[in-house]
Amino acid sequence: MDKVKHDMELRPNPRTGRYRLISANWKMNLNHLEAIQATQKLSFLLRPADYSYAEISIHPPFTDLRPLQLLIDSDRMRFSLGAQNCHFEPSGAFTGEISAPMLAKLNVSHVVVGHSERRQYFFETDEIVRAKVEAVFRSQMTPIICVGESLEEREQGQTEAKLRSQVESAVSFLAPELAERCVVAYEPIWAIGSGVSAKPDDAQHGAMTIRSVFESLWGREVAGKVRIQYGGSVNPTNAADFMHLEDIDGLLVGSAALDPESFARIIQA
Ligand code: PGA
Repeated sequence: MDKVKHDMELRPNPRTGRYRLISANWKMNLNHLEAIQATQKLSFLLRPADYSYAEISIHPPFTDLRPLQLLIDSDRMRFSLGAQNCHFEPSGAFTGEISAPMLAKLNVSHVVVGHSERRQYFFETDEIVRAKVEAVFRSQMTPIICVGESLEEREQGQTEAKLRSQVESAVSFLAPELAERCVVAYEPIWAIGSGVSAKPDDAQHGAMTIRSVFESLWGREVAGKVRIQYGGSVNPTNAADFMHLEDIDGLLVGSAALDPESFARIIQA
């Protein structure tokens, strides 16, 4: 058992020293029965080497969290459980909301914060995103902070400015020990769910811009530890192009993560 455990240990990227993180953002898809099936199938498809290559987090709808927690525990699966959102207050009269401490109690380790769909459809502002980052850290979890420019902003040459302001606003208040634990997902809005991913050069440029914000706030060492994912129409064919980029440490995958076979192929790419 110990030997097996050792063989399966997560290994950092030898080039960067950072641990890779590949995340499945299921959005509002898969009920708890479908979620159990998909997770079982994914676990069947993955080999020990896949878990050494990257940490794999699954972000299902809230109603799937408890059944998946039990499944992951009982079958000793090596997935990290993630959430797609949380409220910034720990408890209170916020009908319909779920707090960070509630998620932590379910062994959730990663929480997506500020996804562009939340910003667009649920009017999440930079201030709300910032409060959620703080709430996630207060519950000892890791935020996956989503940032990205719209097509219009891109066409007007405002990509860098948008990324800088979103990142700065979400993290500038953090102590360096927390700043270095952030995961930031660079998700150009025009690439999400569109079938048109960013070009690797654009993804690298976005990731580099994000890392440079951490560098200007806390210096090279902290910036060198922050993990940056790319997200937006990732599929088994383009996944490797992004994973080879200097500043990309992982992927945030939406529609292609709903099918365990295609998500497994992304991880194995
Ligand atoms: P997509 O979604 O992979 O379907 O483009 C990515 C995301 O929204 O995180």
